[in-house]
Amino acid sequence: MIVTTKELYEIAYGNYAIGAYNINNLEQTMGLFRGCIDSQAPFIIQISKGARSYTDKRMLEGIIRAAGDVFPEAIFAVHLDHGDEATCYDCIDSGFYSSVMIDASHDPFEENVAITKRVVERAHAKGISVEAELGMLGGVEEHVAVDEKNACLTDPEEAKEFVEQTGCDSLAAAIGTSHGAYKFSGGQGLHFDRIKEIQRLLPGFPIVMHGSSSVPQDEVRRINEAGGKMKEGAKGVNEDEYFPAAKLGVTKVNIDTDGRLVWTRVHREYFNQKPEEFDLRGPGKIFMAEYAKFIAHKNEKLGSAGQLSDIRQKLGK
Ligand code: G3H
Ligand code: 13P
Ligand code: ZN
Repeated sequence: MIVTTKELYEIAYGNYAIGAYNINNLEQTMGLFRGCIDSQAPFIIQISKGARSYTDKRMLEGIIRAAGDVFPEAIFAVHLDHGDEATCYDCIDSGFYSSVMIDASHDPFEENVAITKRVVERAHAKGISVEAELGMLGGVEEHVAVDEKNACLTDPEEAKEFVEQTGCDSLAAAIGTSHGAYKFSGGQGLHFDRIKEIQRLLPGFPIVMHGSSSVPQDEVRRINEAGGKMKEGAKGVNEDEYFPAAKLGVTKVNIDTDGRLVWTRVHREYFNQKPEEFDLRGPGKIFMAEYAKFIAHKNEKLGSAGQLSDIRQKLGK
């Protein structure tokens, strides 16, 4: 059952985080729903601009609707990930999305405020909530000095001003993470001091953590042993930091890269071990099962596992 993102946030805030998982195809969708039912967790299914144009946006919408029928117990929201203004309007008007993300974080503050405000106005008129972004998610470049990296983090005072001016419903904050498989080269981690300060200035307001994959080194090793050439040693977010962050108001945790690693490992190992095979359903079946296990594990770490009946009761559904 599709619910609003706002409903999920109100129940989860300060207690646990909701996993927001990107999907691009049928196998990911099936694995995601299976994993969330196995772990009894609510979730957010998110679709990026790239995912919408991978085949046709209507394909993904159709797959998600069908998954909702196949797994009637599931409670989830549908979210546009990293949208521009035009894509946000397209999703708002489609009537299918629970929430949209307007990513104008690369624009100057005033411009970001103006764009976000326009999207909020259109979205709220239809009961859809808006995630906005402030700050710059960093990379792992060795040459970038610590001071410079900290300057890219979200300024808590600015965050308060931004939220008040725009009326957005959640904020993607730069708190030390970055997208992709190469986040931290050493012992870095989440900036809990920033998260705490944002929560102090914006109590009760949901913070979104992008770039939350943990990049398990075992996955990278297996991919490389099966012929891959991924850089080893670069780490992701420590999974044991998800829950403490959730307690401080990080209510949505975005994970995509780790799922891609599962896909790559399964397919590389399968065809490496069975070079004579050419039936796509062989690795597809294994992937769906492995992806479901991966999702259930993440939900355990986020604290969302086991929350489904409580959510159903609180929503009266
Ligand atoms: O943060 C971006 C997500 O990982 C989606 O990636 O734009 O390649 O679909 P994508
Ligand atoms: P990862 O690349 O760490 O999985 O982050 C995904 C994300 O932030 C999607 O918006
Ligand atoms: Zn992101």
